[in-house]
Amino acid sequence: VRPIGVAVLGMGNVGAEVVRIITDNADDLRARVGAPVEIRGVAVRDLSRPRKIGQELLTDDPASLIARDDVDIVVELMGGIDPARALIRTALESGKSVVTANKALLAEYTGELASAAAEAKVDLYFEAAVAGAIPVIRPLMQSLAGDTVERVAGIVNGTTNFILSEMDETGADYADTLAEAGRLGYAEADPTADVEGYDAAAKAAILASIAFHSRVTAADVHREGISSVTAADLVAAKKFDCTIKLLSICERVRDVDGSQRVSARVYPALIPLTHPLATVNGAFNAVVVEAENAGRLMFYGQGAGGSPTASAVLGDMVMAARNRVHGGRGPLESTYASLPIAPIDDV
Ligand code: NDP
Ligand code: HSE
Repeated sequence: VRPIGVAVLGMGNVGAEVVRIITDNADDLRARVGAPVEIRGVAVRDLSRPRKIGQELLTDDPASLIARDDVDIVVELMGGIDPARALIRTALESGKSVVTANKALLAEYTGELASAAAEAKVDLYFEAAVAGAIPVIRPLMQSLAGDTVERVAGIVNGTTNFILSEMDETGADYADTLAEAGRLGYAEADPTADVEGYDAAAKAAILASIAFHSRVTAADVHREGISSVTAADLVAAKKFDCTIKLLSICERVRDVDGSQRVSARVYPALIPLTHPLATVNGAFNAVVVEAENAGRLMFYGQGAGGSPTASAVLGDMVMAARNRVHGGRGPLESTYASLPIAPIDDV
């Protein structure tokens, strides 16, 4: 059987765990995919840093790595828009399947990348881009594809939830806790994305696009972060039997004339201690989906960190590898149809 060749772009918090799991679980992966899964190379910026992988597999030239004929799947874990966007486009256009966790990129360019994948008839998967280990993209795209989703709401940023719950439970200092989130591999390379709500807004855009078959970008999402939430705010919230969480809320809005739009917003909110989201602490995330026929579903688990995120990446990689071995293809472009977006603050 022809092996499936994998190029991993990035060996940071997530990429290092993906490489470890592919290496450690080679026999299991072979059985699950129906062919050996072999790492062809790993792209990094700094070749001089020590890594837990043979030096011969490392490169600082991701473009040459993905151009290799023996690469079937590109796993993008570099982050940022450039050069990730061009690399993913090139990979898709040259017939490679792509798995990415890059929510900042997807929040702007899912449409462009999904079109490139559709054109080339290859897979583009991104389960890890929202809520770390928690399966939420695939349930929305597949399990609920026949239902009408009304609302997707919850906690989708681990760093800010870690900071808020540490400040609430132990009175920890904001700056110290943010630094700790960086050390634990939860925070983005630039943690402003976490604390100012950009990361949660990107995830809201991705969730809203999929849940409502729309094309929501981060710019369509009303955004407030947690940088102005103080320890005194959390103490005050407790007096009212509440706590503060950074919520992401995406809704189908029905106007009186029967027309429908999408509203998406991210902001720190006061929630009662009795609410299920109040018990989501640390870097855990939770997403509540309300659908016309399914009713209310809740997804809960580790929302950030190397291993949990790598689990979701590996799930996508196995799906893409199976499709290449046995035939079949992942989400079609028609997943993202055309429900219009409500202007920010309109709803
Ligand atoms: P890191 O910053 O830890 O790692 C990024 C890696 O990419 C590094 O190995 C870096 O190289 C490499 N890299 C960056 N730019 C280039 C480039 N131009 N050429 C070659 N290599 C490059 O990021 P994370 O692992 O934390 O995150 C990766 C992606 O996953 C991001 O999109 C992030 O948003 C997303 N994500 C992260 C989660 C988390 O919990 N950390 C959870 C869900 C998604 P070098 O090592 O030499 O610096
Ligand atoms: N920085 C992100 C977070 C990583 O804290 O949620 C997971 O997407």
